[in-house]
Amino acid sequence: MLEINQPVLVFGATGQQGGAVTSALLNDGWRVRALVRNRHADKALALQRAGVELVQGDLKDPQSIRDAMHRVYGVFSVQPSSGQGAMYGVSDEDEVRYGIQVADIALESGVQHLVYSSTDAITDTPTGMGHFDSKARIEKHVRALPISSTIVRPAAFMEMLLMPGFGLDQGVFNFFMQPEQAMQLLALADLGHIVAAIFADREHFSGKTFAVASDNVTGKDIETVFSEAAGRQISYSRFDGDVLASNAFLAKLTDLLDTGVLSGTANLDELRNIHPRLQTFRSWLEGNGKSAFIEALGTAGVWGYGHN
Ligand SMILES: NC(=O)c1ccc[n+]([C@@H]2O[C@H](COP(=O)([O-])OP(=O)(O)OC[C@H]3O[C@@H](n4cnc5c(N)ncnc54)[C@H](OP(=O)(O)O)[C@@H]3O)[C@@H](O)[C@H]2O)c1
Repeated sequence: MLEINQPVLVFGATGQQGGAVTSALLNDGWRVRALVRNRHADKALALQRAGVELVQGDLKDPQSIRDAMHRVYGVFSVQPSSGQGAMYGVSDEDEVRYGIQVADIALESGVQHLVYSSTDAITDTPTGMGHFDSKARIEKHVRALPISSTIVRPAAFMEMLLMPGFGLDQGVFNFFMQPEQAMQLLALADLGHIVAAIFADREHFSGKTFAVASDNVTGKDIETVFSEAAGRQISYSRFDGDVLASNAFLAKLTDLLDTGVLSGTANLDELRNIHPRLQTFRSWLEGNGKSAFIEALGTAGVWGYGHN
């Protein structure tokens, strides 16, 4: 039973990461407050029905962040990025500014623990991908602040595989790996459980930075699991040369996988100590991913992320 009565403030609670963190925190008995841009939007109202306290605000409006952080115990910080294409109109400099600002206001507000969600695609030198390098800059700032904090570095989301444009509607699946090459993937629900565990034991996790993933899969593994779930063959191959030649964003990500930057650094055994029911790609597809998979099998489209 939690003894902390103050809420955790979750950014992006209507989105993927913040949504998973919100569910896990509620499940563990936390009070959750969410900063939302539109408190009348369907997703915000659904949060409210689930017991979340809504505060209307915007990352562009520092005073709204201060108001939302009034008397909170913890903050989960995630920002939209340029890697999401035109969806939020956020530049890399915007992302850095937002991430730094959230951390600074958390310090100023006396927040007891900050969890910043970065990316696992970070190395000691810039990767050349703006939305990865932005997170390295925010991490550096967070680490230097005199505030108790933990930095989680999520792997690529399993949920991303079901977005339109990877070929499922045509009985194929094209992604970054070569058929025998492995890449770590994260089921978002697992991120939620790990972050909830961090807030529950901040002394243990304070000052730590670690990667979060659920499973390590090859292209062939994806082919097997998708084919079984579809009840027909889904053939896996890496994006073909024409696609990579015409999309610099995908080409750069593929290069980063080949140089090891995107393959994932999470220690799955240690993560299982924190959250024993870490999902496999197969268990995720049978559970959280199932309905989106069925929809993706019948949905044509182009990949919407990061075209340049
Ligand atoms: N895709 C991957 O595999 C992967 C892996 C690691 C890290 N990441 C990183 O994850 C981050 C995105 O997280 P996500 O996928 O959880 O995002 P998401 O599902 O796209 O949701 C974005 C959230 O941010 C909110 N938001 C957008 N602009 C805002 C603003 N100006 N002020 C306040 N809130 C705002 C949105 O609220 P509304 O409901 O108002 O729109 C929504 O709740 C990016 O930085 C990306 O680089 C992605």
